[in-house]
Amino acid sequence: MTPQKKVRLALAGCGRRGICVAGLFRNHPQCEITALMDPFESATSLAATQLDIPEARVYRNFELMLKDAPVDAIFLACDPTQQVGLACAAMKAGKHVCTEVPAAFTIAECWDLVETVKKTGCKYQLLEQLRYCGFIETWMQMNERGELGHICLAQGEYVHFEMAWKLWMDKDTGEMIGEIPKPSGRRVEPTWRRRILADPIYYLPHTLSPILRVLDDRVVRVSCMGTRKHSYTHPDVKLPWSDIQYALMHTAKDTVVLAGAGFSLPHVPRGELGAHWYDFRGTRGSVESPRSKADTYRAWRRGMDAFETSNVSSIPIGATEEEQKTGHGGTDFKPVDTFIRAIVDDTVPPMDVYRSVETAAPAILAAESANQGGALLEVPNFRTEKRRSKSKAKIRIPR
Ligand SMILES: NC(=O)c1ccc[n+]([C@@H]2O[C@H](COP(=O)([O-])OP(=O)(O)OC[C@H]3O[C@@H](n4cnc5c(N)ncnc54)[C@H](O)[C@@H]3O)[C@@H](O)[C@H]2O)c1
Repeated sequence: MTPQKKVRLALAGCGRRGICVAGLFRNHPQCEITALMDPFESATSLAATQLDIPEARVYRNFELMLKDAPVDAIFLACDPTQQVGLACAAMKAGKHVCTEVPAAFTIAECWDLVETVKKTGCKYQLLEQLRYCGFIETWMQMNERGELGHICLAQGEYVHFEMAWKLWMDKDTGEMIGEIPKPSGRRVEPTWRRRILADPIYYLPHTLSPILRVLDDRVVRVSCMGTRKHSYTHPDVKLPWSDIQYALMHTAKDTVVLAGAGFSLPHVPRGELGAHWYDFRGTRGSVESPRSKADTYRAWRRGMDAFETSNVSSIPIGATEEEQKTGHGGTDFKPVDTFIRAIVDDTVPPMDVYRSVETAAPAILAAESANQGGALLEVPNFRTEKRRSKSKAKIRIPR
């Protein structure tokens, strides 16, 4: 693609996240949004208005959009349990694809992504943004220089409590409803959030992606445990969620990773990164992100009496003032920019298909492990192995 030409992008899934990130694509100097797709008219109208793109073509049907729309790339921000099928269809139609987190919900879907990228040569990128945090990059460089020694333990969690998660959708209008009990008097269905977050560990990729970036590593086996599938926070309503699930993992380079997720467990107000926390312990030192608003980033080197405050933040290194204002502590612009650059420059995106499935597969197997009482499960090596027939597991989450 010539550097002068803009990437023509379609947004598929015009919900809150889709519109927010599409705003960053629209503002990117090498991108324009030429199509919007969502099953609901209310969603595409809102997107066209909020993004101020009245000229964008509008579709209700994904296949029709693929055939008809003047686009080079698709940004998928829909029900994430449907996105692998859509991503593969798009790549087979010659479109580059970026998707929201998590990338996949079965090991078979991970293989589908890897094989389709290989076959089509299209660019695929997961829009996981926390891996670009300034402090993650600083810690990655410290690790590369050997300043932390051998990192024996990496920890992290994404524990994000909200009372009004959108758990139901009005089937007639597409309106998302923030109530726990099933609303009466209207035709509703459970949203993907209500279905997925029964096993909150499916959201492990947000924690694993930055951790694996620092370690330059991949998970080889995983075990996971969680609390019962009836939230203790909501004892009087049946919310079939584990309040917390924690995965214990082992990496190829011999680091133990302990990482958890929960969406119904209340917590102390967190700092600039909302609900995310990271901690690395090496033979020469350790580093940790704040656990609350009152806390600081900190580092400790062997021989020191105590932690010292680190002058790092979530803002990606080199971000402009405008970029620093983007969501998730100034990181949201980064995967948008790297995806567009990869298309324009014809390079491999930094969060390519291998790195993407290396965050998804441990999460999928962790959910499976939690439901088997903590079984130890092996993670396939998508770079060197071939798909095994036994990995063609059916999706556990009802669609
Ligand atoms: N990276 C992050 O920090 C972050 C934050 C929030 C959400 N997300 C991810 O973004 C995605 C969307 O989240 P959301 O909160 O906007 O969800 P949402 O449910 O509010 O919106 C999803 C939209 O997709 C539409 N949709 C459903 N199925 C579709 C299909 N097959 N084709 C096209 N559109 C379809 C729905 O009608 C809805 O308008 C999810 O994958 C979620 O995990 C990521």
